[in-house]
Amino acid sequence: MIESFEGKIAFITGGASGIGLGIAKVLVERGAQVVLADLRQDHIDDALAEFAGGGRSNAVSALQLDVTNREKYREAAQKMQDEFGGIDILVNNAGVGLEGPLLEATYADYDFGFGVNVGGVINGFTEFMPQMIAHGRGGHIVSTASLAAEVVMPPQMAIYAASKAAVAHFCEAVKPELMQHDIGVSILLPGPVKSRIHETIDNRPEHLRSGSGFVASEKKLSRRIVGGNWMEPTEVGNLVADGILSNATYLVTHGFFKDGMRARAEAVLAATPDTKEVFDSFGNYRDEEED
Ligand SMILES: NC(=O)c1ccc[n+]([C@@H]2O[C@H](COP(=O)([O-])OP(=O)(O)OC[C@H]3O[C@@H](n4cnc5c(N)ncnc54)[C@H](O)[C@@H]3O)[C@@H](O)[C@H]2O)c1
Repeated sequence: MIESFEGKIAFITGGASGIGLGIAKVLVERGAQVVLADLRQDHIDDALAEFAGGGRSNAVSALQLDVTNREKYREAAQKMQDEFGGIDILVNNAGVGLEGPLLEATYADYDFGFGVNVGGVINGFTEFMPQMIAHGRGGHIVSTASLAAEVVMPPQMAIYAASKAAVAHFCEAVKPELMQHDIGVSILLPGPVKSRIHETIDNRPEHLRSGSGFVASEKKLSRRIVGGNWMEPTEVGNLVADGILSNATYLVTHGFFKDGMRARAEAVLAATPDTKEVFDSFGNYRDEEED
């Protein structure tokens, strides 16, 4: 696990904008060497310009990567191995803010949303877990889900919410396994944070544009103004950095969904029978009363 960021190597997907960049700034400030991996060269150029001239600007580098491209992701992981002897911290943060009229959603929309938001995270785990286990230094993996994963969202957010719920559940399940290799796992659950997620339409690959049912809503989203009272990305960065050090499972930025989170959990519990099943070691279960 991570006890200090001094000299640690962090690989942050979607690291050139918004939340990822906020995390990068804080990790650099606390002593880490950070690699920003991002789809958008313009975001990378902007981000590197922000670091330029700063005291630790040589602690930041960047590479252009589409997290859905497994071949390129594997090359990026190999580059981290060759250049740094492997990474210590992986931040699976790249994501797209997919939303639109559910009944008009096509496979292009499902593939885009799940491809980046779930596939990108799974590709990160798949490429970096073996490397982090093999170098034996321990480490940490943070994945950005969303508070949308924890409440019942409106239909236009169904794909986004489902993709983020998948991330959260995957990370929860994998945590005990990675703990055995001294690798911590955290799930970031943000509410509104200042970012460029409204540019989602620009991050959609060409082959998933034709036939999309979400074109109009993505164009509308692109005109959304970032709220002045939304959280600053570096505030999220500090929450993440502290969460890495304490190996906290859930890193939550806002409290306003608490009632909705509780209502959902209680609805599931209310529908759950009181019988207590007993599981055997094969995962088969039988009712206690059968004995
Ligand atoms: N900003 C919010 O209010 C908010 C709330 C909840 C969750 N989130 C999540 O936070 C994460 C970061 O988003 P953000 O709000 O900072 O948005 P952002 O658009 O500012 O940053 C995301 C970055 O990811 C990059 N990206 C997009 N697709 C990619 C791909 N296929 N491969 C590599 N990089 C890719 C973008 O170029 C961008 O630089 C996302 O997973 C998002 O779903 C954001």
